[in-house]
Amino acid sequence: MLSINLHLSFNLNILITGGAGFIGSHISDALIVSGHSVVVLDNVSSGRFENLNPKAHFVEGDIRDKALIDRLFKEHQFDIVNHHAAQMDVRKSVADPIFDAETNIIGTINLLEASRQYFVKRFIFASTGGAIYGEQDYFPADENHPTRPESPYGIAKRSVELYLHYYLTAHGLSNTVFRYANVYGPRQDPHGEAGVVSIFTNSLLAGKQSVIFGDGKQTRDYIYVGDVVRAHLLALEKNLDSETFNISTGIETDVNQLFSMLSGIITDGKAKASYSEARKGEQKRSVCSAEKAEKNLGWKPEVNLEDGLKQTVEYFKKAHA
Ligand SMILES: NC(=O)c1ccc[n+]([C@@H]2O[C@H](COP(=O)([O-])OP(=O)(O)OC[C@H]3O[C@@H](n4cnc5c(N)ncnc54)[C@H](O)[C@@H]3O)[C@@H](O)[C@H]2O)c1
Repeated sequence: MLSINLHLSFNLNILITGGAGFIGSHISDALIVSGHSVVVLDNVSSGRFENLNPKAHFVEGDIRDKALIDRLFKEHQFDIVNHHAAQMDVRKSVADPIFDAETNIIGTINLLEASRQYFVKRFIFASTGGAIYGEQDYFPADENHPTRPESPYGIAKRSVELYLHYYLTAHGLSNTVFRYANVYGPRQDPHGEAGVVSIFTNSLLAGKQSVIFGDGKQTRDYIYVGDVVRAHLLALEKNLDSETFNISTGIETDVNQLFSMLSGIITDGKAKASYSEARKGEQKRSVCSAEKAEKNLGWKPEVNLEDGLKQTVEYFKKAHA
């Protein structure tokens, strides 16, 4: 297997797809502070212009546009591709699996083809812990847990992981796969369906009624976006084989607990949620072990949920003001 040593002191030329989005924009900021050159490719479908770092070279465009991608790779000679652009709404993937696959699979293959053609050194991919493992056999799930994605979104993420293995063995394209748990933090879009933290935070700040679907006992593993960014910085420092890592806390929190923590921070616990019918097909429990990341990357989460929620609330308070 290929193994490359990319130390942070190198000035790397990095493409971040989805760099106008929630997670990609934070990674882009950190890489720029570390002295790397960053090009952001984003069609701003769910991302925002305000998230863009002014020191990044921004290209407004779509990963489905093969001709654009060819031109971009030819022009920039990227060392690293950090792939975050995605259709990331699970419900939308169920409603329109063709669109999901066009973006999340075909769009990614466009990037992989250009990466092998223009000798990219490493392809870093934002995969998912929750949607890939499906209903878990054991808790927390490690990276060897069977993958049983239950949505086109999860299937697409798993497919890309298999393509990455193919590009590694057939073309020597090195990769790092991060399977994120539920990422939360500043800049997360409260209007989508994905970020329950930003949805509750915004409804609480606006004095609106928050709604919990089902009994609120469904659990997730919430990881602060700053911890995710640190994993990316470490991945560039290490001499890594192509590997897959859960980026998670290993701690289960149910929706009732999450809501009461946020209500405590924002309204001293006065606001109560109302309950609505459970959503069909929603996973009951999801929690992932990050022991492998700790062992091989020297990474572990540093921001506990209470502190991460406080930082997130501060951000949205300013945004509301
Ligand atoms: N947020 C989470 O909890 C979580 C969990 C697991 C995995 N992920 C993955 O992390 C990545 C980033 O997620 P996020 O939460 O920051 O979401 P996001 O929606 O904020 O970011 C995605 C970005 O991709 C851009 N984009 C979408 N389609 C595109 C296209 N066809 N061409 C170019 N750009 C396009 C959007 O405009 C947006 O800026 C995604 O790949 C997502 O699947 C996120």
